[in-house]
Amino acid sequence: MNSLMENLEETKKYILSKCDIKPEIAITLGSGLGRFAESLEDKVEIPYSEIPGFFQTTVQGHAGALIFGKLGGKPIACMKGRIHAYEGHAIDQVVYPVRVLAHLGVKKVILTNASGGINKSYKPGQLVLINDHINLSGLNPLLGPNHSELGVRFPDMTYTYCPELREQMQKAASKQNYELVEGVYSGVLGPSYETPAEVRMLRTLGGDLVGMSTVNEAIAAHHAGLKVVGVSCVTNMAAGILKEQLSHADIEHEANKAMEVFMKLITDFIAE
Ligand code: HPA
Repeated sequence: MNSLMENLEETKKYILSKCDIKPEIAITLGSGLGRFAESLEDKVEIPYSEIPGFFQTTVQGHAGALIFGKLGGKPIACMKGRIHAYEGHAIDQVVYPVRVLAHLGVKKVILTNASGGINKSYKPGQLVLINDHINLSGLNPLLGPNHSELGVRFPDMTYTYCPELREQMQKAASKQNYELVEGVYSGVLGPSYETPAEVRMLRTLGGDLVGMSTVNEAIAAHHAGLKVVGVSCVTNMAAGILKEQLSHADIEHEANKAMEVFMKLITDFIAE
């Protein structure tokens, strides 16, 4: 069996044989936000299923592809669809794409996701800038021997969500006259949504948002030296806050509605 570094090298070679765009910035697109990639110019789309080391995503709305292109003239890589731990994939597979991005020379990654709003001041459709996370997934992508070529054994997590990039995202939001509030993302394993009691617990713990992705990618990205910025689309109020039950279809619909403001925010952010 190849080592992680050998696999990363093989994946990189394959990607470079398909595309010569060398982006400094990458974005992972969460539920319902995949349409963002359509706006890229000079697109090269590589389905995950064709990339050595990648796994196909299975969730509806997560057609997986790595897409390289230009946004406002700047080269960018988009991960359209991500692999989730709740699909049964091992955690090192979940974070493999992020590690590939780092291995390709990407320096900054924008992690996006759909989340449930725990903070009662939030509204469905609102975008929230992630300023920290609570990893309740029960997983950690750095378990096992450390890959010192990637990063250190005990990475400091104080500035996982890069303060400078957050400031830059706030500037992009001001330009759009968008009030971008900041919040703490609690990452759970899923795939069942939370019970109302769990949502109350998460609020007590300091979570503003809850979702089933991002935390492990953020850990792996930060470990590998990538600067991380996270934007969450509150697609629903977390369970028990409103009377209604949660559905994946409603969540996607709400993420789609938020696309326009999301697009503008990210385009401005990248232009800077
Ligand atoms: N909980 C967990 N994940 C989610 C939610 C939620 O309420 N909404 C979107 N992703």
